[in-house]
Amino acid sequence: MLPHCMSRASHVLLLVLCLSAAEDFDWTKNDRGSFYFGTFPTGFSWGAGSSAYQTEGAWDKDGKGRSIWDVFSHKKGKIFLNDTGDSSCEGYYKVKDDISLMKELKLNHYRFSISWPRILPTGIKSDHMNEKGIKYYDDMINLLLENKITPIVTLYHWDLPQLLQEKYGGWQNISMVNYFNDFAGLCFERFGNRVKYWITFNNPWSVAVEGYETGEHAPGLKLKGTGAYRAAHHIIKAHAKVWHTYDTQWRNKQKGLVGISLSGDWGEPVDITNQKDIEAAERYVQFYLGWFATPIFHGDYPQVMKDYIGRKSAQQGLGSSRLPTFSSQEKSYIKGTCDFLGIGHFTTRYITQKNFPSGRGTTYFTDRDLAELVDPRWPDPGSEWLYSVPWGFRRLLNFVKTQYGNPMIYVTENGVSEKMMCTELCDDWRIQYFKDYINEMLKAIKDGVNVKGYTVWSLLDKFEWDEGYSERFGLYYVDFRNKNKPRYPKASVQYYKRIISSNGFPNQREVENWKRKATETCSSSNQLLAADPLTSHMEMVTEIVVPTVCTLCILLSAVFLMFLLRRRN
Ligand SMILES: *[C@@H]1O[C@H](CO)[C@@H](O)[C@H](O)[C@H]1NC(C)=O
Ligand SMILES: *[C@@H]1O[C@H](CO)[C@@H](O)[C@H](O)[C@H]1NC(C)=O
Repeated sequence: MLPHCMSRASHVLLLVLCLSAAEDFDWTKNDRGSFYFGTFPTGFSWGAGSSAYQTEGAWDKDGKGRSIWDVFSHKKGKIFLNDTGDSSCEGYYKVKDDISLMKELKLNHYRFSISWPRILPTGIKSDHMNEKGIKYYDDMINLLLENKITPIVTLYHWDLPQLLQEKYGGWQNISMVNYFNDFAGLCFERFGNRVKYWITFNNPWSVAVEGYETGEHAPGLKLKGTGAYRAAHHIIKAHAKVWHTYDTQWRNKQKGLVGISLSGDWGEPVDITNQKDIEAAERYVQFYLGWFATPIFHGDYPQVMKDYIGRKSAQQGLGSSRLPTFSSQEKSYIKGTCDFLGIGHFTTRYITQKNFPSGRGTTYFTDRDLAELVDPRWPDPGSEWLYSVPWGFRRLLNFVKTQYGNPMIYVTENGVSEKMMCTELCDDWRIQYFKDYINEMLKAIKDGVNVKGYTVWSLLDKFEWDEGYSERFGLYYVDFRNKNKPRYPKASVQYYKRIISSNGFPNQREVENWKRKATETCSSSNQLLAADPLTSHMEMVTEIVVPTVCTLCILLSAVFLMFLLRRRN
């Protein structure tokens, strides 16, 4: 998953200081409201997630076809340090090991994705089915079930078969709808007797915007102002078609559920007394989560998207809106195609109104007429875009409840990364992130939001798209420089395990103990890692890189500040 986007960072105007280096940062300063002690409803499902390209490796093994990510990552200059997912965590060969990690955590579910080109090398079902690829997922599903772990399976986690990109232009082409439907039908046929939770798409926002608008992700197209809207249009149709296929052909027999996983940051008005800011914040969320959720729940795009993109297209002298339209038949076909809604959520932005005149530079971002800001006091331990703002999570969940008729929700992604230089297994900032975000989710459930499960993003450190291996989201640390890719538990493993076994936060005394105990165990894990001869190298990296990076941060901040002051003048 990751809704990562460099160009979003460039829209963030506020000066961001290098706070992550400050070890004694006060995490509690930004708390809105107090901690809520209590437990989750009985049967609440706890899990962790991954995706095929990010963890499997074995990119060209056993008859797998190439995906757009294989091709994209092999191009120089696209990925941090020119890294690739060719071997990644070697998850393809470590199914048993990884399931034992899940057992250790006592997970109720595991969310993973099926690589389309691993089972259909050209992407097209009538060309060739790769039985070895099918067997890999068969074995994994069986082993999960033997261990009483429910599989939640994503059909599209960004790895489109390369041939479909080359021949048709990928998601720019309506023909993807039928090819994806054939692939999904095959998955229902072969795995659906055992898999009861299907997610059609993971974070289509990212596919559309980063794949076809900014080009930071595969296939790397920069079709500004049109590419994302067209890709999204076809993805929504493909989702609806697959839901109908399941509904008419498989539901009776298999009795499963089909949903979609949407990602969305929360947008909070900068000035809650300013109507323009309130409307801008609403637009931010509508252009993000609402872009996909509104058609799926109500049949059409959010009115505000139709208005803004339509008006700007007219100002550009275009004959029709850059936002495609659904026919009335399509609207009723798409509406209601969601048995449960997957939510991926990581962070929050402050939003203010900002006009962008339409013209040649028009993009998805400028269509929204807003600026994103962050509070420099928000903790930012890892990715530059990922600030810890727990209260935004509760607001987003409540937004989903009121806007879309209180649907059944599975949180399909939530977590925080650390920068490459942190090889520390004592990840107390991640513990704090989980504690606060999960607590806000608990409050949302008390508000009446219908959340049925929660998925930590992610089980393992893994290939983080254009960031390569420089960002680590895992509960388990993976040593990528060692050919065997050994996994080491971070302290957050112990902490999450206790949340799971207590099904929440029983009382203050106990919860305070958890953190202490988790930190105790992590120092012994650290010793384990220290036994590895590579560690001396890691320490060196920390000693040299940390001060260098911080100096750089301070310099950059100064430049930003000057830039900002110049703009103000
Ligand atoms: C990545 O590849 C490009 C193009 O060949 C090269 O200029 C760049 O130095 C490479 N980066 C690293 C870190 O190797
Ligand atoms: C979609 O694919 C077909 C078949 O290759 C092609 O004729 C058509 O031009 C494509 N459409 C777009 C929008 O790329």
